[in-house]
Amino acid sequence: PGAAGIDRAGYDLIVLANRLPVDRVADSAGADRWQRSPGGLVTALHPIMRAQRGAWIGWHGQPGPPPDPFTHDGIRLHPVELSEDDVDGYYEGQSNATIWPLYHDAVEQPIFDRDWRRSYREVNERFAAAAAGLAAPGALVWVHDYHLQLVPGILRRLRPDLRIGFFLHIPLPPVELFCQMPLREEIMRGLLGADLVGFQHPHGTRNFQRLAAHLLAAKTTGEVIEHAEGVTTAATFPISIDVATQQRLADDPQVRARAAEIRRELGDPQTLILGVDRLDYTKGIEHRLTAFGELLAEGRLDPAKTVLVQVAVPSRQRIDHYQALRERVERTVSRINGVHAGIGRLCVHYLHQSYDRAELAALYLAADVMAVTPLRDGMNLVAKEYVATRTDDTGALVLSEFAGAAAELSQAWTVNPHDLDRLKDAIVAAAHAEREQQTARMRPMRAHLRRHDVNRWAADFLNRLETPAGRGRVEAAA
Ligand code: ADP
Ligand code: F6P
Repeated sequence: PGAAGIDRAGYDLIVLANRLPVDRVADSAGADRWQRSPGGLVTALHPIMRAQRGAWIGWHGQPGPPPDPFTHDGIRLHPVELSEDDVDGYYEGQSNATIWPLYHDAVEQPIFDRDWRRSYREVNERFAAAAAGLAAPGALVWVHDYHLQLVPGILRRLRPDLRIGFFLHIPLPPVELFCQMPLREEIMRGLLGADLVGFQHPHGTRNFQRLAAHLLAAKTTGEVIEHAEGVTTAATFPISIDVATQQRLADDPQVRARAAEIRRELGDPQTLILGVDRLDYTKGIEHRLTAFGELLAEGRLDPAKTVLVQVAVPSRQRIDHYQALRERVERTVSRINGVHAGIGRLCVHYLHQSYDRAELAALYLAADVMAVTPLRDGMNLVAKEYVATRTDDTGALVLSEFAGAAAELSQAWTVNPHDLDRLKDAIVAAAHAEREQQTARMRPMRAHLRRHDVNRWAADFLNRLETPAGRGRVEAAA
């Protein structure tokens, strides 16, 4: 696509996500251009959309009138307008101060607000209307993530001919937590408007079935949920990464040279520990820092020979929870450096910045230990990227059991990040692992990822959406 006529004829594959897969940035000459944006969702879907030449409906990242539809990197992009009020209510409010904390085990207190709910409804209606206007007859429409949970139900009413899939990139909490949500029945009806609903982890699928029974008296047989509006299949599809691209980056001589340079710039430490996260309270950054600080204080890690590089990608910076987290993290980093660093020698390199994929790959290659310690995480693609980058099967992954990735990367040093002593033990064990130990753990994880990359994830979901088993919509709904 690219010609305007394609938009009029309609697309056979449409993705809806809160964000378009691009951000507007100023280049060195000060002119605006679009650049691929960070985040697990974009990383995962980009290659598939390019290959299938589909259309992507999403927000372009700024409040106010959207640009006209355009093509970027082979994908047709349809920006959706969000006003200042929508950004406050739908995005920062209901999506990221209510649903995000609630779905992540309420590790921060969710905030419930009537105006945010109204805004969430309105924006979900806008997205559904955009898809209804662009979809070819019988098209596949794939709706993504917690921002758009009402869309499948609304779209089903507008366009009963469509095949609608929904994938939740974050955890779906158990009944006891989910039921705090004032929108609980509406969200469940919204999700059940899809033919196929996918989750990262079997726990999410099971919670969904239980919620459907508890809130809407639906009946589940195997993967099929029968409810008042028809039937919906719910299944688990753990998302993955573009393994081939990650391996190509890992083998790029420039990236390898940069990895060596990073180690030199850090003063050739004996052990380089790395954390890469959006600066988000679900990621367990504070627990990781506390563990590292205690290990230095106890002499179990030598401050002169050990460096922690913590990349904390700026995220959702206008939301209170995120501002408070930043304050706490920066205070902790500075406390650790204040006590344990030397002149020209930091213990924690804290980088509140964004990096391109090549620089991230160089960091993964440079790191002896990758610390991925979320308190709750739908999947965590950073863990998978680290493993895929270590093409010589060296390196050590410390991985929280509360990341979806732990279900697959079982050879990692798995930890409960709330258990500080065990977390410290795991970091020390990973830091001291012999090469054979590293290889014995890394090789099966890398082999798993080669078989389960993002292309397979998307193909599995889309094939399932196309099959009659995923259909099952009762005729009355059509
Ligand atoms: P989340 O989706 O919560 O942000 P994940 O770990 O699942 O967490 O995904 C983060 C993704 O964002 C990874 O693919 C990672 O490589 C990518 N990423 C991290 N930092 C940047 C950055 N500065 N620019 C672009 N992508 C980034
Ligand atoms: O994976 C969770 C997620 O919310 C994605 O949907 C999103 O692209 C990413 O994190 C970054 O967050 P945001 O879009 O709020 O900047």
